[in-house]
Amino acid sequence: MRSKLLIALATLGLASLTAQAGPTEDLARTCNACHGLNGVSVGPSMPSIAGLPEKYLKSVLLQWKSGERYSATMGRHFTGYTEAELAALATYFSKLPYVAVVQPADAKVMARGKEATERCETCHGATGGAPDDDETPKLNGQWAQYMELEMMKYRVESTKMPHKKMRGNVKRLAEEDVPVAAQFYAAQPK
Ligand code: HEC
Ligand code: HEC
Repeated sequence: MRSKLLIALATLGLASLTAQAGPTEDLARTCNACHGLNGVSVGPSMPSIAGLPEKYLKSVLLQWKSGERYSATMGRHFTGYTEAELAALATYFSKLPYVAVVQPADAKVMARGKEATERCETCHGATGGAPDDDETPKLNGQWAQYMELEMMKYRVESTKMPHKKMRGNVKRLAEEDVPVAAQFYAAQPK
């Protein structure tokens, strides 16, 4: 009798789990293949997307759909999604916890990085973990290799990256400070 009840309860539990997995969760599973389980990436050139601000995520996804923003790989993924689906994906990932993947760097890099990123502080916070508005992504514990590649895109005039202020600031970094800034932020737990 008791075991039958347990089986019934277990089945009910499963049924309610399946009921919760809506269309956005299904779409998000295709993202997780590259961006990691729950949007936390395990590959150095692949950004984590969980817990970034909703407005930032939405703006990036819609800019890719419209072709306003450069992407080596992502743009073509999004032409098949509706704007409503992209907005729902942005909401979904923004609500997952942000997980900093701390990548330790040596003392020299940290000291130089602190200096080189002084001009970045007003928008990103001293360690990249305190963005000043909801259009600015977190950088602490984001993958260094990914951030370096992104900064190169912002620096090259012919690459379509619409955010003018970010472009202007990153262009003012000396070229050798680009990887240093990336490693500095990647090493920050928060
Ligand atoms: C085939 C692998 C792949 C898949 C699948 C994929 N992405 Fe990406 N994504 C990337 C790569 C690589 C980048 C780095 C930037 C680029 O390509 O321009 C990226 C970048 C991003 C960024 C920018 C992150 C940041 O910090 O600025 C967002 C947001 C994003 N992807 C969302 C998604 C969503 C949502 C899905 C699912 C609908 C998805 N991606 C599916 C590979 C993938
Ligand atoms: C005026 C505010 C501002 C300043 C100053 C600024 N940023 Fe940004 N940063 C942003 C915004 C907003 C974005 C997202 C832009 C977009 O939508 O493309 C961004 C994006 C980034 C990214 C890409 C993150 C990702 O997940 O794709 C990196 C890396 C970055 N900034 C580093 C820097 C560094 C290093 C400096 C200083 C040299 C700097 N930023 C100065 C506002 C700023």
